Amino acid sequence: MTDRYAVVGNPISHSKSPLIHAAFARQTGQDLIYETLLAPLDGFAECVDEFRSAGGKGLNVTVPFKVEAWQLATRLSERARLAQAVNTLHFGESAEIFGDNTDGAGLVRDIVHNLGCPLEGKKILLMGAGGAARGVLLPLLEKNPASVFIVNRTDAKAVELQAQFAAYGGVEAGSYDTLPGRSFDAVINATSSGLADELPPLPPGLFAAGSLAYDMMYGRQTPFMAFAREQGAQVVADGLGMLVEQAAESFLLWRGVRPDTQPVMAMLRG
Ligand code: ATR
Repeated sequence: MTDRYAVVGNPISHSKSPLIHAAFARQTGQDLIYETLLAPLDGFAECVDEFRSAGGKGLNVTVPFKVEAWQLATRLSERARLAQAVNTLHFGESAEIFGDNTDGAGLVRDIVHNLGCPLEGKKILLMGAGGAARGVLLPLLEKNPASVFIVNRTDAKAVELQAQFAAYGGVEAGSYDTLPGRSFDAVINATSSGLADELPPLPPGLFAAGSLAYDMMYGRQTPFMAFAREQGAQVVADGLGMLVEQAAESFLLWRGVRPDTQPVMAMLRG
């Protein structure tokens, strides 16, 4: 029987997830369909319930419902518990709703595996302290970097994140004013600044030799990416690889098979 999956959000029509999962299913010979689901802003839980009652097996969750999905799950992976956000729901035979967050694993896999930039022993700068930053912190720390410095416009939020994640590795936090004179091997933009075509207040000299600049946004060249190129970052990437890799992690959770992401990335870039 064909199993049903979907991505739920509001808005949702722009989502590339159906294309990505259809490609994964073709490639791995899995019998499934994957659709988009537009949930009313005040009707997320009902929408999930209806989908599940109709036989749905799992959902990806996107803006603005990741925190609600985290609250709805009856069991959480550790990475989802710490992220306080869920992007993947899995419905088993029991009444349980399993919630996972594959965003951070997707980011790390894109950086390490696809871009060939190891993170072990490296100095990482993570820009932003909202949901996107929180969602990737544990998987980043699990790669044993020398340190992760969280920088945020509202520095109190960065300090709060530091306190919550200090038990998992070397985490520092501060404001943009504290950056001059420091350099990093990987600078990851988890702010929403690119949406407004803005550049966070970064000083020159931030990129160490051979460093990576990664913008978690995709579909546009952001001011951060342009700045990184000007400043001599060796590898500059947008978040398309992360999008495909987080999808592959969800697919693996649901189906027990890891798809090959390379042809799907090539298709999307083409
Ligand atoms: P998301 O879920 O995408 O993380 P969010 O929780 O609203 O969204 O967080 C947005 C993040 O981008 C915040 O860290 C925000 O900084 P503040 O906490 O100071 O608001 C950051 N951000 C947004 N626009 C920015 C800009 N132009 N420069 C620097 N940081 C910016």
